[in-house]
Amino acid sequence: MAIKHDLVAVLDFGAQYAMLIARRVRECNVYCEILPHNVTVSELKRRKVKGIIISGGPASVYDKGAPYPDPNLLRSGIPILGICYGTQLIAKALGGVVKPEKKKEYGRTELLVDDETNLFAGLPNHLTCWMSHGDSVVKLPKGFKVLAHTKNTPLAAIGNPKEKLYGVQFHPEVAHTESGVEIIKNFVYVVCGCKPTWTTKNFVEESIKEIKATVGKEKILCALSGGVDSTTVSALVSKAVGKQLTCMFIDQGFMRKNEAKKINDIFTTRFKIKFVHIDASQRFYNKLSGVTDPEEKRHRIGNEFIRVFEEEAKKLGKMPYLAQGTLYPDVIESAVPGLTSTTAVRIKTHHNVGGLPKDIKFKLVEPLKKLFKDEVRALGRELGVPEDIISRQPFPGPGLAIRIIGEVTPERVKILQEVDDIVVSEVKKAGFYKKVWQSFGVLLPIRTVGVMGDKRTYLNTVAIRAVTSTDAMTADWARLPYDLLDTIANRIVNETPTVNRVVYDISSKPPSTIEWE
Ligand code: XMP
Repeated sequence: MAIKHDLVAVLDFGAQYAMLIARRVRECNVYCEILPHNVTVSELKRRKVKGIIISGGPASVYDKGAPYPDPNLLRSGIPILGICYGTQLIAKALGGVVKPEKKKEYGRTELLVDDETNLFAGLPNHLTCWMSHGDSVVKLPKGFKVLAHTKNTPLAAIGNPKEKLYGVQFHPEVAHTESGVEIIKNFVYVVCGCKPTWTTKNFVEESIKEIKATVGKEKILCALSGGVDSTTVSALVSKAVGKQLTCMFIDQGFMRKNEAKKINDIFTTRFKIKFVHIDASQRFYNKLSGVTDPEEKRHRIGNEFIRVFEEEAKKLGKMPYLAQGTLYPDVIESAVPGLTSTTAVRIKTHHNVGGLPKDIKFKLVEPLKKLFKDEVRALGRELGVPEDIISRQPFPGPGLAIRIIGEVTPERVKILQEVDDIVVSEVKKAGFYKKVWQSFGVLLPIRTVGVMGDKRTYLNTVAIRAVTSTDAMTADWARLPYDLLDTIANRIVNETPTVNRVVYDISSKPPSTIEWE
């Protein structure tokens, strides 16, 4: 029988922290979803929600048009934890007083615990916490007591144990708050009574049952890119209905050095999946011939990908199902208004391998659509996906084509493959591969003068790009050690005969972007 997971809901009040909170709850092995801030109590009850976290938000409870939840929420009987704005909202709604702070409190602060039960059960009575607020609760609502305070915030954590309503003014979900996860654990286990059933092992078992039930005896196709999402989907579907699965890898000719071969090896030897390798590189090179505009490149690659996919899928006969690696953040981005990016100005046309048209004639199987990226990684590991795929840095769908500024030709791809291989291997060797978000080379459309062995040269320039980031929305250039940059630059000019100059990109995002095109 399928496990009935307890569900905790994070109500989204436009907070950048909502996803982080949901991830923290899931780290406690309790299933958690982000729901719109005004979700109705009847919907929460229908879904048997066992606990609610009201996340922080940019608004003040006194702002005109400040977002409010269902007016019956606080009397619904469902345990609630307010965080920051959520706490103020609870206090104000139940007759407490919230005031703008004279001394706003931001950053690391010492928290002194006054009540060591429930939320703070089993925790030390001095903790470092992360504060970020302009308003504060200054008078408790009826039935509430103070659970913890800081120097400037006397009511830093408040609670009404009888009604199971709690509020913390600080952010337990951020890594800077000591024992933050323990506080969340106490809320979900002790206050809400949730059971820790949301585990990778259970997820695998349930997904296998679900995929089997959906697909039945039909055939299923999966477009593989060699990235962690599509590889993990393939591994999972192969566990469920292995003989009915065909994985299709379309090589656009813009992969990294030896990557196509590596993907081939993994899927033919390790997973023994029916694997179709389509070398479509010549088609893509033809399409990009003479094209230098970045958006034009992206469009042509995206369109050609769909064309190749459709032609090749037809050759495989009746294939009603298509497995895709859609993740939870993709799902909530389109469902929760505060988290959507669809209204943003288009900076780049993204192409994802498997980014197929909406009117595609397949029935979609999307087994990862409840998972965050870190959960996909854990799942991949459980299924035996090799570590270098699991911990691979993000690689864009259009591949090296958008890192070759100007025209993309097979010769220029070859140059960048060599450069990229040097960058990645040296960054790995120096222990920086997992510390940075991405590190790669970019081939520029300019040649410069150099001197090699007494001779004048007039050769290519490459840029090295390495950035730190947590979500790719913003990024900073990575402060890689000079010695490492030196090794990389030396190897590039010595081992790539057509390059005589290496520069390091020191721009952040914004105003730049991570990729150059
Ligand atoms: P930018 O360059 O917009 O990149 O700062 C943000 C992140 O997205 C990746 N990226 C892509 N990923 N298809 C993808 O799957 C694409 O078309 C694409 N373009 C950029 C980029 O590598 C970075 O991680």
